[in-house]
Amino acid sequence: MNKARECIGVVGIGYVGLVTATCLAELGNTVVCMDIDVEKIALLKKGGVPIYEPGLAELIGKNNGRMTFTTALEDVLRQCEIVFIAVDTPPTSTGDADLSRVFAVVSALPGLSSSHHVLVMKSTLPVGTGMKISVELARQEMNNIDYVSNPEFLREGSAIGDFLNPDRIIIGSREAAASHKVASLYRQISAPVLETGIPTAEMIKYASNAFLATKISFINEIANVCEEIGADVTEVARGMGYDKRIGSHFLNAGIGFGGSCFPKDVAALKQIAGNSGYHFQLLTAVIEVNELQKRRVVNKLKKHLGSLTDKTITLLGLAFKPNTNDLREASSIVLASRLLGDGAYVKAYDPVAIPDAARAVRGVLLCDDTLSAVEDSDAVVLVTEWEEFARLPLAEMKKRMRQHLIIDGRNFLDPAEVKSAGFTYEGIGRS
Ligand code: UGA
Repeated sequence: MNKARECIGVVGIGYVGLVTATCLAELGNTVVCMDIDVEKIALLKKGGVPIYEPGLAELIGKNNGRMTFTTALEDVLRQCEIVFIAVDTPPTSTGDADLSRVFAVVSALPGLSSSHHVLVMKSTLPVGTGMKISVELARQEMNNIDYVSNPEFLREGSAIGDFLNPDRIIIGSREAAASHKVASLYRQISAPVLETGIPTAEMIKYASNAFLATKISFINEIANVCEEIGADVTEVARGMGYDKRIGSHFLNAGIGFGGSCFPKDVAALKQIAGNSGYHFQLLTAVIEVNELQKRRVVNKLKKHLGSLTDKTITLLGLAFKPNTNDLREASSIVLASRLLGDGAYVKAYDPVAIPDAARAVRGVLLCDDTLSAVEDSDAVVLVTEWEEFARLPLAEMKKRMRQHLIIDGRNFLDPAEVKSAGFTYEGIGRS
């Protein structure tokens, strides 16, 4: 294989940054990883991995000869021409993205290096921001820095595969040479490469996430109608998905989307549109449907149990989706606080996210396994479709639970099996 041999800097070693850095090392590059978080860098230097992502620790171990870790931006600029930026851009209270971390890096550059650099933006920036940065660099006569937008399309839980086998690579720049240079980093990867302008690249990222979120809210509304008319949304989705124009992905009805990306990006795109004078009606509905979807689970519980005061409800799964310990915007957090607000006791178990959950969900009794979580419980809500929940110990659960109700928030269980074990089963949009 024709291995790349660049020295590449990655600034911001969060989820996207660490996966990007590791995969760039796997492609044969030397990678200098920089983060201002002293503890995180110390952990990485010792061989630790600060996040849970399948295959990541192994890939870092395999490539550790090509990866170094630092807290000094100077170290990156001294060694690397190409510098990826992957700092986070959390939402502010107004729904805008907080860009302070991005600007902290960009504004530090002039004082630190006079060599040529290609700045590759992985962080998701509001459409138009990259162009502003590019113009500002030119205005300050920082001709040694070229700006490239290279949005990421990584899914947590399958990020390494998504990086090394992507559906597409999007590169936005005003400088053809810089654009080609970034494209060449991906030459060992077989995927369509779209070289375009900066705002277009930024919009592709937002539009993609907003479209996927729209698909989820759409199928969730279909599920809600299915419940009323006695149809089964899982079959409906399968039937729809055979149409190649629709596709079968992202048609799993459930208790709503969460995570660090969809909620933030949908809100940000709505805000970007609003700031430019356009009211994005569809996205308003997508967000609202997603909120309501979590409340419907509480109504399902009340339908079977009556008042939730002093009832014990068990949440199986806390992470916003399987194969991650990420709890950001997880449906479990909203659900837990609603249940606590209704006077219920809430117990929970997650195969990976329990250590992080102690901070994220207050008032919930966190358990070490499924059976201790369901002890004396009136109902179970399956929130995250972890593989281990596909084989629930139903007979033993039945003995330990006070009442025998399972709400399958991800349509993950076999209704016939659950019912034959003596439980009342309710999914989402399943007749
Ligand atoms: C998402 C996108 O899928 C990535 O392409 C993108 O790069 C990433 O955001 C990002 O912007 O960084 P991710 O947030 O990791 O990736 O997770 P997804 O697998 O997309 O799931 C998001 C949420 O939608 C989860 O809560 C999941 O349970 C929910 N979902 C997904 C459904 O409710 N139904 C579905 O059919 C699919």
